[in-house]
Amino acid sequence: MTARLIDGAALAVQIKQQVAHDAAALTARGVQPGLAVILVGDSQASAVYVRNKVKACEQAGIHSVFDHLPGDTSQATLLARIAELNADPSVHGILVQLPLPAQIDPQSVIAAIDPAKDVDGFHVRNAGALMTGAPLFKPCTPYGVMKMLEQLGTPLRGAEAVVVGASNIVGKPMALLLLQAGATVTICNSKTRDLPAHTRRADVLVVAVGRERMITGDMVKPGAIVIDVGMNRYSSGPKAGKLCGDVDFDSAVNVAGAITPVPGGVGPMTIAMLMVNTIESARRDPRLKEAA
Ligand code: GUN
Repeated sequence: MTARLIDGAALAVQIKQQVAHDAAALTARGVQPGLAVILVGDSQASAVYVRNKVKACEQAGIHSVFDHLPGDTSQATLLARIAELNADPSVHGILVQLPLPAQIDPQSVIAAIDPAKDVDGFHVRNAGALMTGAPLFKPCTPYGVMKMLEQLGTPLRGAEAVVVGASNIVGKPMALLLLQAGATVTICNSKTRDLPAHTRRADVLVVAVGRERMITGDMVKPGAIVIDVGMNRYSSGPKAGKLCGDVDFDSAVNVAGAITPVPGGVGPMTIAMLMVNTIESARRDPRLKEAA
């Protein structure tokens, strides 16, 4: 059996078209949605992600502010900039790209963002609200995965869902969204004793660990939906240096029922959902005029 490919890039294009439509309608009502993106330092990978986020804003008619701060920026300087953006009515979303340089505490930075502008959904107010059911924003990557599962028509009520990876950005919020949708959820972490025993039970397997091709086809239940959040590079072999995920695509594709490719799977959806969150924030702007 060869798995169906889940085309995140195509779904992201559809979602961004709707975002552009919504942005134009909001702009016509006097409020252009706005997103501020802050990058500290010179990580090449972060620079690529941030550039794609800013480009997506421009294409969708969302106002964007991009601050590229030097790697030795102090925490106080960054917090002062966040305070300015919190007070700026043209900015509906604030995203500080992670990871941050060592002199800056990411938790203090996330805590400084107005929860009403926290389009990443990382503020403890939104993370806590996700746990109890109604956050202002859902974290973009898990939100994007849920959209992909919805488009596939994956039944989640009563399904066995296994999330490999327990990060605050992906694994934990992913598990909560799957739980809310009625799945029976297992969260595995780096200390899980018999990982294959868990992954082989999964009707829906989401992998977000950041380790090159660690989930192989023999760890996948036949017919399962496999969502690969990883973004790594082959460390050796004929494809050395090329992008790959946390799942060994070549073996898993013969076992799964549907699978996301890397690249072109989850990555584009993360950016699309950031745009969606920015639109949702702008819709709450009290300056919005009634539609004519
Ligand atoms: N670094 C990796 N993924 C993300 C993300 O979704 N948001 C932010 N702010 N930083 C990231």
